[in-house]
Amino acid sequence: MLFDPLTLRALTLENRIVVSPMQTYSAAQDGAPTAWHRGHLARFALGGAGLVMVEATAVSPEGRSTGMDLGIWTDLQEAAFHQLVESVHACGAPVGLQIQHAGRKASTTAPWQGFKPVEPPTGQVVMGPTDIGVPGGHVTVPIHEKDMERLISCYQGAALRADRAGFDLIEIHMAHGYLLHSFLSPLANNRTDQYGGVLENRMRFPLRVVEAVRQVWPDDKPISCRLSCVDGVGIGWSIEDSTRLAEALLAIGVDLIDCSSGGMALPRKDMLVPRGPGFQVPFAKALKSSTGATVMAVGGITEANQANAILQRGDADLVAIGREMLVHPNWAAMAANDLDNSHDWSRWPTQFGWWLARRARPH
Ligand SMILES: Cc1cc2nc3c(=O)[nH]c(=O)nc-3n(C[C@H](O)[C@H](O)[C@H](O)COP(=O)(O)O)c2cc1C
Repeated sequence: MLFDPLTLRALTLENRIVVSPMQTYSAAQDGAPTAWHRGHLARFALGGAGLVMVEATAVSPEGRSTGMDLGIWTDLQEAAFHQLVESVHACGAPVGLQIQHAGRKASTTAPWQGFKPVEPPTGQVVMGPTDIGVPGGHVTVPIHEKDMERLISCYQGAALRADRAGFDLIEIHMAHGYLLHSFLSPLANNRTDQYGGVLENRMRFPLRVVEAVRQVWPDDKPISCRLSCVDGVGIGWSIEDSTRLAEALLAIGVDLIDCSSGGMALPRKDMLVPRGPGFQVPFAKALKSSTGATVMAVGGITEANQANAILQRGDADLVAIGREMLVHPNWAAMAANDLDNSHDWSRWPTQFGWWLARRARPH
């Protein structure tokens, strides 16, 4: 299963292994990717991944979570992304871009500097559905309806640029407490207008963003949405809410639901989704069975046999590997050997595989 192809619109992935988007906080000061990003992401393509996802990339300057985030709102950034796409393609994999606006979590220092709020003028004014802020974070300014129209154009602009840069797939980040998730979750959204209150209203802005992206993103290219399938255990956004959202997303042309969780501050630790091997697979499985969506499982997937079993059980259609890829960028190519101890080097670039296949021979 791991090495069965999967077709999403005109894009055929050679295998089911996806490199999960992972922010590296290493952008040039203008938000553009550099030679560092080209090297970092090309490694996974050489390593046999079926799809390489680029980290969360802001659609507008104030949408960055830190000053080191990637962004895609200028010509210069677009040109640098074009180079990045060429590098990943040249190394053998299609490449997707995750677009995002950090919302209430914008304008902080890097994780290794403690995610501390950075205030204007160095930082940005931080926006959210209402003034419910992130604990220990910025004062949050409620987004006015006319600013929502501007944000929708920013997402559209980012999608247009991503297409011109050559990306094969676009993923809209609707998870982890960032802007679109904060509209969905009752823990962050208590607006009283048509964008708050009942579920249908809370979904309205995120769905408008997706619709706007679908309008400009080519028909033959797939769209993925990453969801926080639940906020936690017995609180906030639920898996039933995710089912309703996934149905609505499928109806407006989304091709893949990427099933993550969490990102909202919760009142008690025992409400957090417990972590462990494959801890979010049940969410992918639930959404697949309730909606028939093509789904991606992510979180704590580290072993080839474990990943293969997830696909074989029919719990998910794709597996995304995050941190284990940082340890083993050749994880995908190596998985072919690990699955059946086959010493199958055929999935490696010929330049490596030809030699590796002969290494075990005595003469
Ligand atoms: C360094 C790092 C950066 C991350 N950045 C992003 C991101 O940009 N977008 C996103 O949706 N998830 C992000 N995540 C979450 C990962 O994509 C993934 O869902 C999570 O690490 C669980 O998968 P894993 O157990 O295989 O690492 C990040 C995780 C890590 C460790």
